[in-house]
Amino acid sequence: MGIKDLLGQKKEIDKEVKSYLEGVKSSALHNPIAYSLLSGGKRLRPILVKLMARSIGKGFDVSQSAVAIELFHTASLIADDLPCMDDDDYRRGALALHKKYKESTALLSSFALLTEGFSQIEKNSRLYFKQGYGSEGESDKRLRIALKETTKLSGPNGVVLGQYLDVEQANTETEEAFERLYYLKTGTLFQGAFTLGYVFGGGDLSKMHLIEKLSTHLGFAFQIRDDLEDMDEECLSYPKKFGEQMAKDRCKKEIEGFLEALDQLELDKKIFDEIISYLFSEVP
Ligand code: IPE
Ligand code: IPE
Ligand code: MG
Ligand code: MG
Repeated sequence: MGIKDLLGQKKEIDKEVKSYLEGVKSSALHNPIAYSLLSGGKRLRPILVKLMARSIGKGFDVSQSAVAIELFHTASLIADDLPCMDDDDYRRGALALHKKYKESTALLSSFALLTEGFSQIEKNSRLYFKQGYGSEGESDKRLRIALKETTKLSGPNGVVLGQYLDVEQANTETEEAFERLYYLKTGTLFQGAFTLGYVFGGGDLSKMHLIEKLSTHLGFAFQIRDDLEDMDEECLSYPKKFGEQMAKDRCKKEIEGFLEALDQLELDKKIFDEIISYLFSEVP
């Protein structure tokens, strides 16, 4: 897979997001939701959904899960920018949703995207069955697992808790404290992406427990990368606390951990090469 292929995947996801939006045209929230979803974004998490399914190699269509994770992610960013959170006026190079519309509209759009994510997951399970990938019982079982995992990852012990701890400036004195915070804040959505790609890509369910490890490593590395770009912002971060060099070393170690976890899952590692070098080539 080359960088062109990655860009191709981003375009494909953009198209799928647009087609999702067609389905909510009748809602008065369509315009604010569309504004947030279409104002850029790397589409990294949905790409990870697809790469995971591709590395399993069964050729299953996980587009609806890819859209689901982008909806969850965008919902979290809309909330993150609100005045009561990070109070950011810009997101993805454009006005944040609460600046373009109203704060109440932003909050409600975030709620709407969260619930829509679950609806996309349910659709993916129907597709899993319809395309003849398994029995109805098998796709129901996969739906149950997908819902159990994504509700856990998005709820009060997942990304919502991560955001709460971040906003409340929870203790970040130790490396372990950062590990927990970054897992909750960032790793959980990566885990959602890998889990959906794995479950609806036809992965071996007896190895599901290894996905947490995969996601913790990639999430940590990604959050450090993001922090290194935000060194002039006021918030506390791992590189600010432990220094840039230690952060870069830690980032490398996390990527090694990620590759090791892929090995344990017996997945085709090469499929992730390009995204890893795209994301981390500028972290020396
Ligand atoms: C931003 O994620 C939030 C973090 C976890 C750092 P991305 O950098 O993937 O955001 P978009 O989707 O490209 O805007
Ligand atoms: C984004 O986190 C929100 C979540 C991860 C839930 P940050 O506040 O660290 O990211 P940016 O810098 O605003 O994108
Ligand atoms: Mg934040
Ligand atoms: Mg923020």
